[in-house]
Amino acid sequence: MGEDFKIAVIPGDGIGPEVVREALGVLEKIAVTSGHRFTTKELLAGGCAIDATGRPLPPETIAACRESDAVLLGAVGGGKWDGLPGDQRPEMALLGLRGQLGLYANLRPAFLYQQLKEACPLKPEIIGDQIDLMVVRELTGGIYFGPRGRSKQDSGEQAFDTEIYNEGEVERIARIAFDIARQRNSKVTSVDKANILESSRLWREVVIRVSQDFPEVKLNHLYVDNAAMQMVRDPKQFDVIVTSNLFGDILSDEAGMITGSIGMLPSASLGEGNFGLYEPVHGSAPDLAGKDQANPLATILSVAMMLRYSFNLSAEAAAIEQAVERVLAAGYRTGDIMSPGKTLVGTEQIGKLVTSFI
Ligand code: IPM
Ligand code: MG
Repeated sequence: MGEDFKIAVIPGDGIGPEVVREALGVLEKIAVTSGHRFTTKELLAGGCAIDATGRPLPPETIAACRESDAVLLGAVGGGKWDGLPGDQRPEMALLGLRGQLGLYANLRPAFLYQQLKEACPLKPEIIGDQIDLMVVRELTGGIYFGPRGRSKQDSGEQAFDTEIYNEGEVERIARIAFDIARQRNSKVTSVDKANILESSRLWREVVIRVSQDFPEVKLNHLYVDNAAMQMVRDPKQFDVIVTSNLFGDILSDEAGMITGSIGMLPSASLGEGNFGLYEPVHGSAPDLAGKDQANPLATILSVAMMLRYSFNLSAEAAAIEQAVERVLAAGYRTGDIMSPGKTLVGTEQIGKLVTSFI
């Protein structure tokens, strides 16, 4: 007997709807091959929600997410809404979803497919055999959620944001990182700025304490500036990187770039229990929207992460990942990962190819 899973689907803006459409096509095939049922409900968030309801994250969207087993999100944002005040921008939908759904652990794997080695901007001797790392980013704390404000001073206007972490927040993200490292190559690199920031000193102390519960996992610490440099100097040294919200935002983009294309990178945002939100790392790319040129593979791979982390369907997740590899091995490419001699295809065609390879 197959199981029933409820998925809240938030296509969002720009290329969001087209990449989500392909990912849902792949999921339908998994339903057929596995016998499980996936019920989807489409919801508004981001710029399209601002246009339709006046706010980036309507309460009905949050309510429907809470009633689901997982959330699949395309992308939000676009130039059209850039002029809005900070607290009304489409990006607030993301922060609201993360904060209100308690999704504190953001997993961003950066994996260089053998078939895409040419797309990697690093020299072959730096790449070596493989780049395969996982950024574990704290997602509901730090400067993104800390006290902030603006005020008029005699000297002019001033503004501030606050980096703030408590022990509990660091401990739970550290545990996730060590747990994941145990299932990979047993190495955690904790990234901070403990030479300057008090919050980083606490971060480091707590990570060291948690590490004692995972004696089989190796731990080292890097300052964030050095980590950014090491990522392009010798990415092979990394297995799992655990870091704060802001540093993780920056380092995960850098990690993404060295795998060739941000169009290939999935992510999972997890809280307590099996619930999670899954989305491609890339943004809404308004310039590509509606042209059938966007790469849906990151969203398709996000569905694979959903199957693995929220639904406990590892075999089905692996089937999707293998289908993506086969499509690449067969030479099919979207524009962002195109190289000479390969076959250029559009969003819809590459989605159908993945489906047909399952
Ligand atoms: C990301 C994005 C978001 C972030 C923005 C759009 C709010 O850059 O998911 O990495 O900074 O977290
Ligand atoms: Mg980012």
